[in-house]
Amino acid sequence: MRTRITEMFGIEAPIFAFTHTPRVAIEATNAGGMGALACSYFQPDELDLILADMDAKTNGRPYCIDVLFANKVGTVMPLSERLNVLPEEHLDFVEKVLSEGGIAPLSPEAEAEMLRAKPPGRGHTEEGVMEVIEVVLRHPQARFVVSAMGAPPPYVVEMLHARGIKVGAMAGSAEHALKHVEAGVDVVIAQGSEAGGHTGSISSMVLWPEVVETVAPVPVLAAGGIGSGRQMAAAHVLGAEGVWCGTIWLGTSESELNPEMRRRYIAARSQDAIQQKYTTGKPLRTLRSKWTDAWSAPGAPQPLPLASQKLLVAPALKRIELANAVDYMSYMAGQIVGRIKKEQTTRELMQAMRREFERALDDLHRHRDETVAVGERDEGR
Ligand SMILES: Cc1cc2nc3c(=O)[nH]c(=O)nc-3n(C[C@H](O)[C@H](O)[C@H](O)COP(=O)(O)O)c2cc1C
Repeated sequence: MRTRITEMFGIEAPIFAFTHTPRVAIEATNAGGMGALACSYFQPDELDLILADMDAKTNGRPYCIDVLFANKVGTVMPLSERLNVLPEEHLDFVEKVLSEGGIAPLSPEAEAEMLRAKPPGRGHTEEGVMEVIEVVLRHPQARFVVSAMGAPPPYVVEMLHARGIKVGAMAGSAEHALKHVEAGVDVVIAQGSEAGGHTGSISSMVLWPEVVETVAPVPVLAAGGIGSGRQMAAAHVLGAEGVWCGTIWLGTSESELNPEMRRRYIAARSQDAIQQKYTTGKPLRTLRSKWTDAWSAPGAPQPLPLASQKLLVAPALKRIELANAVDYMSYMAGQIVGRIKKEQTTRELMQAMRREFERALDDLHRHRDETVAVGERDEGR
């Protein structure tokens, strides 16, 4: 399992566990891979405590943090302004969907708590990301910073390199991957369209080798549709030096899903992970729900630019969460969700992937030896 990526970070297995949950990141790191914690949504002081806890629980092992340098965010506004700045048509539509679903309005306490959180979209702006990076620099085990949705500015890459931190960026096309390399990144993550979260339109099978060839000799991690050791081996054969998985950890006991949502993920089929623009204004793969169905129905309004769409839907998603309206929840999920068949721990999943990867490579070598033997026998005839 040694690749340039395992050497770069001194880890045992080139498996990156992208997650919004510190517990998954900690477990994946301790199981020999590297946890990659999404950090853009936390307030700086909250993040500082989370990373201190990760430091304490990962025995000096390196971990990764993920930020969102989005290209076009639009104007970020505080939640208190939403009724003044959002189109009436959109506000009315959201209210209609929620009241038809019998989903109660936010209590004054819940509303006050939302107002204290980051304004929707702030985590995608350069200032928002820099706030996060300032905190990260106080935690020396954070050895890898990955940027999604856009290339990190070169001054940020230089700043991180000066502290010995490696930088990666997520790409959905070879063109984007090239831009990241021009910005100075050390690793490119090629993410196919079957992935959960924001995606492009090119599938993993096509994208991975294209990116590998375009950015060589920069190492590539494969993302999008990986949930098993055999898929890891396929990524390896296509030139990737490790894998970056997101959806598959959602089925683990440590993930952020509540028990009802975990059951929905276990029951979901690959085709239930649909691409939609109603959460952030950009194509996002999520689990289909009554909420996504309402937005896809005739007469639904068109999504707004990123910051405005988030301002519109953030309180609605909070209402759905607090009402525990599971049928309306549409959290992110990739097509590999169809492979989540039972709840298991992150450690068990990591171990299973590592074992299956080794077996898949053995099978591949045996197959090659048998093919060579058949060829030699045929030549001898
Ligand atoms: C629940 C969830 C949330 C995600 N949120 C982010 C995010 O905040 N930042 C990011 O870079 N990628 C995000 N992604 C994408 C992952 O980083 C990763 O590229 C993707 O999950 C890989 O494909 P897979 O879902 O098929 O494993 C998210 C994915 C999921 C499933």
